[in-house]
Amino acid sequence: KIYRSALLRFAPDGSPVYDSDGLLAVAPDAKGQERVVAAGSWQALQAQYVNQPGAALIDLPGRLIAPGFVDMHIHYPQTDVIGAPADGLLPWLEHYTFPHESRFHDRAYADSVATFFLDELLRNGVTTSLTFATSHPASVDAIMHASQQRGMRMMAGKVLQDRNSPDGVRDDTEQGLIDTENLIERWHGVDRLGYAITPRFAPTSTPEQLRGAGELAAKYKDVWVHSHVSENLDEIRWVRQLYPQARSYLDVYNGFGLMRERAVYAHCIWLDDTDRALMRETRTAAAISPTSNLFLSSGYFDYLKADAAGLMYGLASDVGGGMSFSPFRTMQAAYIVGREQHSKAGLSLKPAHLWWQHTAGAARALGLEGVIGNLQPGCEADFVVINPACTPLLARKTQQTASLDELLFAMIVLGDDRLIEQTIVSQAK
Ligand code: GUN
Ligand code: FE
Repeated sequence: KIYRSALLRFAPDGSPVYDSDGLLAVAPDAKGQERVVAAGSWQALQAQYVNQPGAALIDLPGRLIAPGFVDMHIHYPQTDVIGAPADGLLPWLEHYTFPHESRFHDRAYADSVATFFLDELLRNGVTTSLTFATSHPASVDAIMHASQQRGMRMMAGKVLQDRNSPDGVRDDTEQGLIDTENLIERWHGVDRLGYAITPRFAPTSTPEQLRGAGELAAKYKDVWVHSHVSENLDEIRWVRQLYPQARSYLDVYNGFGLMRERAVYAHCIWLDDTDRALMRETRTAAAISPTSNLFLSSGYFDYLKADAAGLMYGLASDVGGGMSFSPFRTMQAAYIVGREQHSKAGLSLKPAHLWWQHTAGAARALGLEGVIGNLQPGCEADFVVINPACTPLLARKTQQTASLDELLFAMIVLGDDRLIEQTIVSQAK
């Protein structure tokens, strides 16, 4: 298939590569997985690709093709918890989130939410996410099965939480680890699916459970590790009481072998410089969740210190603490959060850098650089077709933009799911 439209992708250093009249050629590899074969300017590539036997030309005038968005941290079971009014993180968990998650022992219920969730991701242009399930193994089977049916690249895991959690979501220390290992064996590496060992956060796991999680993380090295860290000051005080011997909240996870490549921690707001250096050394990634951090008034991710330390990071919605499935809402909030530190230095996050954080940057942080989140040759062909003129105001505004930064920023500030005309998931068969 040969697509003709404007085309956005990213260079290895994160800078944007843009063709206002672009060509994207997609074809199945030896295993039947559709991949990008060529991407670049129409002028330069059309003679080589358009006349190949069997090539189908899809002309999309006025449209922009861009990599499918990658959501580094989300909770599929919290789809119905978005917008629950509560006084910050811990009351929100107690009054809304835990009672709701207790329903996911029921496979039929989990299936129905998983189906809605994936449809909503795709409607918003998100082609891959790293998602929490709940503590119930059936909740993992539901999201994996539904993702497999859609051919999506998805990572998910059963939540480990064996203390400080109410009946209905609390798991058993040993059984939770047995369930985790069984689910790794069942799902990890099947089609485009990946498993994530998922301790909820330090306060809801015993040291024994975190130790077991770390042992599994050492045994299954290409499985992801997924948790929360340093989101909220009340939470940090609580962790200090529960783990008084740890140097910091992050150090709790480090002590149990839960920091390594493919380990992803949501929030990372209140880290100190020692924590950041440890993140960098262990190649542990941060999932920045700005709409959630604003909603729960948790704080502001410090981009300047993260960049100074060389941290790997990307963007995440953190639905249902987050306020929207739309990557445009998340990028907009990241811009506002970035201003919090950068304005002191007279700077702001650049539009293409915001976009990169939700595509190629997120893929890199997940250990999937060159696989998803980009449209360079070899990448799996997951992408969105954007209509920059989808609303009267966007049509007017994007017509007047004179640079790529202006075009991307108009969409980040004014856009939402209406921008996403099509989401195309690479076919595996
Ligand atoms: N910390 C522990 N659990 C959660 C959760 O479900 N959402 C958020 N935002 N933070 C958490
Ligand atoms: Fe979260």
